[in-house]
Amino acid sequence: MAMSAQATTPATVDRIELEERVKAMYHEVAETPEHDFHFEMGRELAERLGYDPNALDRIPAAAIDSFAGVGHFFDMLALLPGESVLDLGSGSGMDSLIAALAVGAEGRVQGLDMTAAQREKAARLARQAGFANVEFHAGYIESPPFADGSIDAVISNGVINLSADKPRVFAEAARVLKPGGRLALADIVTEKALPESVSCNATLWAACIGGAMQQDDYVAVTESAGFVIQTLREHPEYRFLTDSARGASESYGVKSLSLLAIKR
Ligand SMILES: C[S@@+](CC[C@H](N)C(=O)[O-])C[C@H]1O[C@@H](n2cnc3c(N)ncnc32)[C@H](O)[C@@H]1O
Repeated sequence: MAMSAQATTPATVDRIELEERVKAMYHEVAETPEHDFHFEMGRELAERLGYDPNALDRIPAAAIDSFAGVGHFFDMLALLPGESVLDLGSGSGMDSLIAALAVGAEGRVQGLDMTAAQREKAARLARQAGFANVEFHAGYIESPPFADGSIDAVISNGVINLSADKPRVFAEAARVLKPGGRLALADIVTEKALPESVSCNATLWAACIGGAMQQDDYVAVTESAGFVIQTLREHPEYRFLTDSARGASESYGVKSLSLLAIKR
């Protein structure tokens, strides 16, 4: 399937400005989750998306307050005790901690994020709550600092849409996974191609809209990286909050989906 130019950054988006905007927005998400954002956050969102309230009760509330994911995939992923998990764009750590509960003391979870405030918050909360099987690393999802074939499951929630090089993110996820390893993610995609007024708007990009790919292209990029998609579902319960974000969402069919894919 032909891929649109949106698979990589549109020519007119400045990657340096984009990284600065994304870091600034998610610094604020970590430090002041009570502020107003284009998107919803926190426990009410997590429960609506399908997170198990009992699992949420077992992790620090401050990690849930800064949860800025867009879907839920832990039911499809069915993590097993002892597995190794990599969380791409781990934010304040909610998904990493949910994964840590599932893989137990014999398992290991590694979160990766480029925003210092997110990583530091996640690491502090994990330490204070006594999670010994999770750690948070600085880095980019386009170049995760992990060995080939070392991970059982890669997870990612609301992050890949923010990347300026999505094919590389999927290729790297495939590289670090063991043969037969699983990729479980939730992300924002579109039904129609976004016009440059949206895709070149760094604020809308940082709000998880401007960088969203068309769904068919997203599926094609995932499969070209060496994955077989097993389950794909939409999350109509995910909503944007501000007028500008909602307007773009309605005009171009911006929506949340989650998927489970297996490395071939
Ligand atoms: C929408 S938040 C989601 C965080 C977390 N997954 C959650 O569900 O709350 C996006 C996160 O991805 C991180 N991020 C965005 N682009 C990244 C990249 N290219 N490399 C590493 N981290 C990135 C941001 O710093 C931010 O913490």
